[in-house]
Amino acid sequence: MFVHSTFPVLALMIPACALASSGSSSPVPDCSSFRPVNSISDYHATILNTTYYDIGELDVQGTLNEVSICEIFVSVPYGSNDTLHFALWLPDTQYSSRFMAIGNGGFGAALSDTEMMEELNNGLGFAVAGSDAGHVGNGSGTPGVYEPFLHDEDQTKAWLHNSISLFTPVAKALINNFYGYEADYSYYRGCSTGGAQGFSLAEFHPDLFDGIIAGCAANYYTHLMLSFLWNSQQTDTNETYLSEPLLEYIQARVIEECDTIDGIQDKLVENPLECTFNISTLACSAGAPAANVTCLTPSQLSAAQAIYQGPVRADSSRTSIFPGLTLASEGGWWFPQVEAGLSTAITTPILQNLVYNDLSYDPKTFNWASDIDVLDERAGPLIDSISTDLSSFRDGGGKMIAYAGWADPSIAPMWTLQHVEAITKRTLGDGVTIADNDFLKLVMVPGGGHCGANIAKYPSVPAHYSISSVLVEWVEKGEDDVEGIRSWGPTNGDNRTRKLCTWPKVAKLKEGGDVDDWESYLCA
Ligand SMILES: *[C@@H]1O[C@H](CO)[C@@H](O)[C@H](O)[C@H]1NC(C)=O
Ligand SMILES: *[C@@H]1O[C@H](CO)[C@@H](O)[C@H](O)[C@H]1NC(C)=O
Ligand SMILES: *[C@@H]1O[C@H](CO)[C@@H](O)[C@H](O)[C@H]1NC(C)=O
Ligand SMILES: *[C@@H]1O[C@H](CO)[C@@H](O)[C@H](O)[C@H]1NC(C)=O
Ligand SMILES: *[C@@H]1O[C@H](CO)[C@@H](O)[C@H](O)[C@H]1NC(C)=O
Ligand SMILES: *[C@@H]1O[C@H](CO)[C@@H](O)[C@H](O)[C@H]1NC(C)=O
Ligand SMILES: *[C@@H]1O[C@H](CO)[C@@H](O)[C@H](O)[C@H]1NC(C)=O
Repeated sequence: MFVHSTFPVLALMIPACALASSGSSSPVPDCSSFRPVNSISDYHATILNTTYYDIGELDVQGTLNEVSICEIFVSVPYGSNDTLHFALWLPDTQYSSRFMAIGNGGFGAALSDTEMMEELNNGLGFAVAGSDAGHVGNGSGTPGVYEPFLHDEDQTKAWLHNSISLFTPVAKALINNFYGYEADYSYYRGCSTGGAQGFSLAEFHPDLFDGIIAGCAANYYTHLMLSFLWNSQQTDTNETYLSEPLLEYIQARVIEECDTIDGIQDKLVENPLECTFNISTLACSAGAPAANVTCLTPSQLSAAQAIYQGPVRADSSRTSIFPGLTLASEGGWWFPQVEAGLSTAITTPILQNLVYNDLSYDPKTFNWASDIDVLDERAGPLIDSISTDLSSFRDGGGKMIAYAGWADPSIAPMWTLQHVEAITKRTLGDGVTIADNDFLKLVMVPGGGHCGANIAKYPSVPAHYSISSVLVEWVEKGEDDVEGIRSWGPTNGDNRTRKLCTWPKVAKLKEGGDVDDWESYLCA
């Protein structure tokens, strides 16, 4: 799993004798011979290997390191008989006394080295670490296949609750040993599974980080995975199936109706909450041929409406189990690969392995009333991190930025919005709104997909953004001004940039401003 793509590893072992940038004048040690002087044996951790990479020698999916580093692989035992592996990248000359831990995707089991490389190369001087989340495996599941980590309670809890806290103290101790002083600031960044790990840090390990970035968070994992099952069940017959061309058609009609609510015609719905598109207006007229991709049959309409609504309990309460997907996200639903795929790769394996311990369990038999309590009871304590009381984190001075993509076809963005609202209310009091939250900010990304671009349908929306630099400003300079984050790099290759704002503010174009230049926008 710790494979660095295909670039030949040139372990040059160059002696690193440059001076550390702050805090101490002692030279950083030679990478190959580095051994911690202050032992990391408190954690029973073992250094597996160390490798020096000069600039451009480490290739992660085609991106090279722009900073020379000493890479240290470490194993950390935990639980009854479990082992976590992590990699720590220590810049030798461009270190700013900042540590950045990176979370996982999916079922974990692999280092998120792409995100690690982004944080290494972004000029903020981070020492960067990432882990396998405490188990080996495939990164997602297969129906009917035994998934070992879901049968080991310590490993299950490590996955979403504890893995970052298992390696962070060891990484901090190694940093102290390597540079001769402690890191001044510690940060965490993760999206999806990593977003859930971020909320877990604030809830269960509130003292480890000064700043946390939690994107498209899967922190209500039990109910999120029911939304995958729900969406796939709404559309699993020929009558209810929503084909990709039909979904694209729906999204195009929604955009047509709601694009200019913000005053800008840019094929983007800036704030879907202001869009009141009525899908019933796309109903087929009587006698329309089957498989018409410009109208919906009554069965298809019901399916789409159920997906916008999200799963509800099948009892008289009709209580919402998880929010539904958003208007103008339809083109990304793409059933076989996205919605049904998530149910197959995530929901079924978790129900079979963790909840029912029966590899032949058929998710079609899931009872949408009584089985929800079974799921909550058996899996909730192991994989959810949904406390709305984050006062320990706040009282310790922690700052957090949560974000969600308005067009995320995997995790309904309304979950993050509602959850941040609930945290604000519970932690800061009834009268406080998100706008006045002094420790937790929310960024809703217009047209944003799951942890980046909307998979296919918003090719002209700038999909890249770096939240780390604004978090660093906020944490280190106390500048409560996490406003106006630059986004860039649409997948169609344009050079357009846009401004992301902290909710409930949205970007407004200044009079006469260039639509494609982020500096033309105000957050209002
Ligand atoms: C270091 O150890 C890790 C984890 O066992 C392994 O994946 C990696 O290939 C090793 N690197 C080197 C350079 O031996
Ligand atoms: C501990 O785990 C290893 C590797 O998974 C296994 O080979 C060994 O039998 C386990 N030991 C005990 C005592 O469970
Ligand atoms: C990975 O997936 C393959 C194919 O489904 C399966 O046979 C194997 O057991 C899985 N391995 C782990 C460790 O889950
Ligand atoms: C859907 O239609 C196809 C082709 O007409 C057919 O083979 C299949 O059995 C149908 N599936 C269902 C669930 O009705
Ligand atoms: C939605 O559109 C349908 C069909 O045109 C119409 O009958 C219905 O009243 C509309 N609903 C709302 C809330 O406007
Ligand atoms: C599809 O349905 C729409 C609306 O009912 C209708 O206007 C259109 O002609 C139909 N398309 C085809 C190819 O039949
Ligand atoms: C995009 O590139 C064009 C041509 O290089 C340039 O004129 C324009 O100012 C750029 N726009 C932005 C927003 O950077």
